Amino acid sequence: MNTDSPDAGALLNTQNKLRVLVPNFTFNLGFSGKFFHTGTDEEDEGDDMLLKHRRELWWFPHMWSHMQPHLFHNVTVLAEQMRLNMLFAQEHGIPTDMGYAVAPHHSGVYPVHSQLYEAWKTVWAIQVTSTEEYPHLRPARYRRGFIHSGIQVLPRQTCGLFTHTIFYNEYPGGSKELDKSIRGGELFLTVLLNPISIFMTHLSNYGNDRLGLYTFQSLVKFVQCWTNLRLQTLPPIQLAEKYFQIFPQERDPLWQNPCHDKRHKDIWSKEKTCDRLPKFLVIGPQKTGTTALHSFLSLHPAITSSFPSPVTFEEIQFFSGPNYDNGIDWYMDFFPFPSNVSTDFMFEKSANYFDTELVPKRAAALLPRAKILAVLISPSDRAYSWYQHQRAHRDPAALNNTFHAVVTAGPQGPRDVLALQRRCLRPGTYAAHLERWLQHYQPSQMHMVDGSLLRSNPALVMEAIQRFLGISPTFNYTQALVFDETKGFWCQKTEGGRPKCLGKSKGRKYPEMNAETRAFLAEYYREHNTELLRLLNRLGQSQPGWLREELQGTSRS
Ligand code: A3P
Repeated sequence: MNTDSPDAGALLNTQNKLRVLVPNFTFNLGFSGKFFHTGTDEEDEGDDMLLKHRRELWWFPHMWSHMQPHLFHNVTVLAEQMRLNMLFAQEHGIPTDMGYAVAPHHSGVYPVHSQLYEAWKTVWAIQVTSTEEYPHLRPARYRRGFIHSGIQVLPRQTCGLFTHTIFYNEYPGGSKELDKSIRGGELFLTVLLNPISIFMTHLSNYGNDRLGLYTFQSLVKFVQCWTNLRLQTLPPIQLAEKYFQIFPQERDPLWQNPCHDKRHKDIWSKEKTCDRLPKFLVIGPQKTGTTALHSFLSLHPAITSSFPSPVTFEEIQFFSGPNYDNGIDWYMDFFPFPSNVSTDFMFEKSANYFDTELVPKRAAALLPRAKILAVLISPSDRAYSWYQHQRAHRDPAALNNTFHAVVTAGPQGPRDVLALQRRCLRPGTYAAHLERWLQHYQPSQMHMVDGSLLRSNPALVMEAIQRFLGISPTFNYTQALVFDETKGFWCQKTEGGRPKCLGKSKGRKYPEMNAETRAFLAEYYREHNTELLRLLNRLGQSQPGWLREELQGTSRS
């Protein structure tokens, strides 16, 4: 009895024919072991024949029972399911070292389900996967790749074949639609415009009218007839290496809010919620009074700050550095589940967001509707405060050089002094940094807090902030704060009426800046401050007193 499957035979046959036109062309077959030999006799024969020829094909694990990984919250259970598929592969001699996997139904790769990445790495040592969902399914020409948690995610294209498109004459819109797509239409253009294309079709496209074989054979012939493109196939790991060589700028992902795309939300764990994201950000810059603002905001009954980080204390520093690589699950763990989404105002403050290049773009991708608070004091005073901060942290460049020497050092100066100079001066070019934020946020989403007024009259400033955030009823800060003569600053008034002030590192005692350095800095910042004045006028925001003084040369510390 001949038990060879004609469909599986056709697949192998087409592969051989395609190899003549596309060096190394190989079908990469996904398997869900639980469904082995569970079809009709004919289908089971197909299973057997593919296995018999397994060494001529490439294989990737799909999922043991084709379930969606994002439904599994527990990584151990997910890994157990994967192990069943691994056992199946081992029992049937299927190679397990290709380093590539695809999750069923687009689940778990993007938006990232970190459990999937973890389980894939532990069980299968996966290095490469692909998705149609990053950053979105449509428009298809914008699909991109990224690398997360050591796994390279390649963009996957769509070829117009789905589980239900199995008969040539019943192709949606008529068979001419499929042929049009192949011969100069969408599918042809996809291959033409992407140096690397990955397509995934279904088993049903290889039975019935075998549209999978028809489509790719016709496509290759058409491309070779009408273009000079040389087609070739690479195994997944080499393919990913090539991809990120061509598109190195795609390595870092840009995390978006999963709830802003229904497709994303549908393939995101139901145990996760976009409500665990901040409604507003305090972005800094450093040394302008951001800790005081954070502590005052936290006194408000309707405002909740992020949980403290064991490493960076009251700051998360997610958008500004390596923490961003941890992904949004990590970020959201810093926020509680709000008890009332519309009245709870969650926020986080990370003072280096203000002047870190990538932050506005990243923040706007995840939190496009957030409100943004920036605290501005005289940039000269800010620079001096940073210098004193570095002295207190025993930074040799700050200990061994006067502030004047640091800020006036020329480009040939010692490296460590120039690095300190940059940290003193650069955040203070306020207008330039704010313009970058304004490329991603509407002016109505931004509020500039006068840091000098925050220091001298915090209740007034807090009232304006509440108005900007739209919080009512307004919390009365005159009763919540008290001026502490010894500290020389406003502090929280505790139950017994005693002041609870910020620690010693906030509101340090140090000598006044000397007049010569102040004059130098006033000149250094003159143009930047003029720009800031213009910008605030343009935005209809009030001008802080220190800005007018600094521009008139009358400011004092
Ligand atoms: P100095 O220590 O140089 O005086 P940040 O929290 O952004 O690092 O800013 C620290 C600065 O906040 C302090 O700088 C201090 O001047 C200022 N500040 C404003 N209001 C304060 C308050 N109520 N308590 C302590 N410091 C305050």
